[in-house]
Amino acid sequence: MINDEIITSLLERIQNEIGIVLSRQTDRDRINRYLENGGTIPRASELLPVSLINLVTTNETYFEREAHHFDRLIKEILPKLNEQGSTKPIRILSAPCSSGEESYSIALRISASMVNISRPIEIIGIDISEEMIEKARKGVYTSRSVHALNQSILERYFVCENGTYRILPLPSVSIRFIAGNVFDPMLWKELGEFDVIFSRNMMIYFDSTKNKELLKRFQEHLRGYLILGHADDHLNAKEIFTPLRSERGVIYHI
Ligand SMILES: C[S@@+](CC[C@H](N)C(=O)[O-])C[C@H]1O[C@@H](n2cnc3c(N)ncnc32)[C@H](O)[C@@H]1O
Repeated sequence: MINDEIITSLLERIQNEIGIVLSRQTDRDRINRYLENGGTIPRASELLPVSLINLVTTNETYFEREAHHFDRLIKEILPKLNEQGSTKPIRILSAPCSSGEESYSIALRISASMVNISRPIEIIGIDISEEMIEKARKGVYTSRSVHALNQSILERYFVCENGTYRILPLPSVSIRFIAGNVFDPMLWKELGEFDVIFSRNMMIYFDSTKNKELLKRFQEHLRGYLILGHADDHLNAKEIFTPLRSERGVIYHI
């Protein structure tokens, strides 16, 4: 049995550095197995190993998840941003993007809609899991992942190969994926400012202190709208942002 103190200190590092709270016995057992199978114990000056990060992240996602957010983006947010008269790109962040389904859902909605946007559109997806970012860059998905997409969207924007779905290039938007930790200030320097931030189904894994830290970071880098998942930290979000309610829930404005 690996020393309990080592496990405790790894759990603390995970919570401090990437936000994820792991407090159950099953989490300790998972870390224990990682160590017993030769997983490395990083020094204080070293980054957490990728294999450890992959072990503790939950990457569940699919196209058109919480689809009403994409409706609001197309019907409400993009027309308002377009009205601003700027010629600068509309910048949309998907943080976290997991294997890319959220970022591509945004891109597909924009490509397929009749919405008349004169500004260029840039989408950036970020996720701490390098494995998920690799998947996002490849853009190849299972039938489970695309189950909520219309048949017409599948036929128009995907190539079906051996039971998988490869997304085709979408000329009306620029889309790229970056591996990074949302708590890394250097990453935010690289990212810059955004008109829309989607941050769905990540805060549920963090505690309130980390969520406040993240929401402050969003505030610094947002000049428009914030969209959280229904189970994310709305309590702290409404302290910082202005809620915009509709019959389908709430989004926020800076
Ligand atoms: C459940 S997925 C949500 C994906 C997508 N937003 C959705 O709602 O379908 C949560 C993602 O958060 C990522 N994540 C967790 N902690 C992170 C951190 N500190 N920085 C960046 N991504 C993180 C995980 O790797 C995982 O892919």
